[in-house]
Amino acid sequence: MPTIGIDAIALAVPEGYVELAELAEARGVPPSKYVEGLGVSQMAVAQAHEDAVALAANAARRLFLQARIDPSNVGMVIAGSETAVDHSKPIAAYLHGILGLPSRCRSYETKHACFGGTAGLMTALDWIASGSARGRVALMMCTDVARYALKSAGEPTQGAGAVAMIVSENPRMLALEPGISGSYSRDVHDFWRPLYSKEAMVDGHYSVQCYLDALAGAYSAWSEASREAGYHRDSIVRRCYHVPYGKMAKKAHRHLMSIEGKTEEQADASYKEQVATSLKLPSQVGNIYTGSLYMALASLLEYEAADLEGKRIGLFSYGSGCTAEYFAGRVMPGAGLFVKQQKLAEPLAERRKYTIPEYEAIRGADYDVDRRPVEQLQVNGAVAFLGVENERRVYTA
Ligand code: HMG
Repeated sequence: MPTIGIDAIALAVPEGYVELAELAEARGVPPSKYVEGLGVSQMAVAQAHEDAVALAANAARRLFLQARIDPSNVGMVIAGSETAVDHSKPIAAYLHGILGLPSRCRSYETKHACFGGTAGLMTALDWIASGSARGRVALMMCTDVARYALKSAGEPTQGAGAVAMIVSENPRMLALEPGISGSYSRDVHDFWRPLYSKEAMVDGHYSVQCYLDALAGAYSAWSEASREAGYHRDSIVRRCYHVPYGKMAKKAHRHLMSIEGKTEEQADASYKEQVATSLKLPSQVGNIYTGSLYMALASLLEYEAADLEGKRIGLFSYGSGCTAEYFAGRVMPGAGLFVKQQKLAEPLAERRKYTIPEYEAIRGADYDVDRRPVEQLQVNGAVAFLGVENERRVYTA
């Protein structure tokens, strides 16, 4: 079978963020609770024009440009999201138009909370492995705007952003292992968003336990599959986790190490080596739901790809509700140079900081956004949601 995996990645984030230390002060909480206790220093804040479609389109455009992808070779576009803009028309259909993808292309949206992107990635992998792709590539999108109520416990764990990935044969970044993964599912109410609400509801501490239980289940299933395929699990040298906030990844790693019989001290030592780098970019953005695991992967590659060429890394995807998957991949030879050329972190460096009153005004303004009449905006060439005309959403061309 040919090598199949993630050929290239690009990120998009909203134009502004808040400092969590400032949010903590405004909420009367010690800043150390958010920054050290939760492990997040900045939180991306999406304005009304930066919806899930706009963020995804900007990530995909950047991907095509940086990685020199020919859009006419995309045979499938899947958008994973839990903050979609329509009950019927998928984000992928908007992207198909905005990006000028070929008509001979399958396009749809996937949903299972933060797992939606991984569901698409696994499908893309199987589509290529089965031979159906016939040399074409899949465009895999993860895009979300994470929102909890203002002044709630979840507020410091919001964020927004998109990750675009090309899945193909002979990938330049990460070879995946079709058929070797471990799944876990269970019907729980840890986190959900009723149809009438723009803000998620969450049983916070219970959701942490659900995540850890799912990790144990998926990891055990993956270990078995990996062993049967002839791999030793010690071959994993780095681990990326779904990152609702940095501390969750640390808890996850401790849990996984305890399953492997390691002490807390051993787990914390290996966290520094195996996990910490993957949290650098997420700690500046917050939870981006479907894209969180893949932003962690981008962070790991941004800082360590050259040293990791040929090495195997583990990936854990969790979606509330819940479902989870553990899988692994090998960093491709040459990935160090290729990743350097991609400038993965550049979009984060181009942002501006919002004050807390600015952030609260942005949140207050976007409640009626889905009915807002079209208005012209200055967005420096970025794709933006302009408003609604004749019951249709309108985006910049
Ligand atoms: P909370 O109850 O306000 O916080 O909410 P806490 O009291 O549990 O404190 C958090 C940590 O800060 C604790 O550390 C404290 O000790 C520490 P831990 O015990 O966990 O190691 N702390 C301090 N540290 C330093 N200085 C201080 C200080 N004070 C306390 N002064 C919670 C926390 C995460 C529950 C809340 O933010 C929340 O509900 N968030 C949303 C839910 C969530 O993110 N869940 C994660 C698992 S579920 C998941 O990942 C799926 C999801 O992404 C959705 C999807 O799938 O679509 C959410």
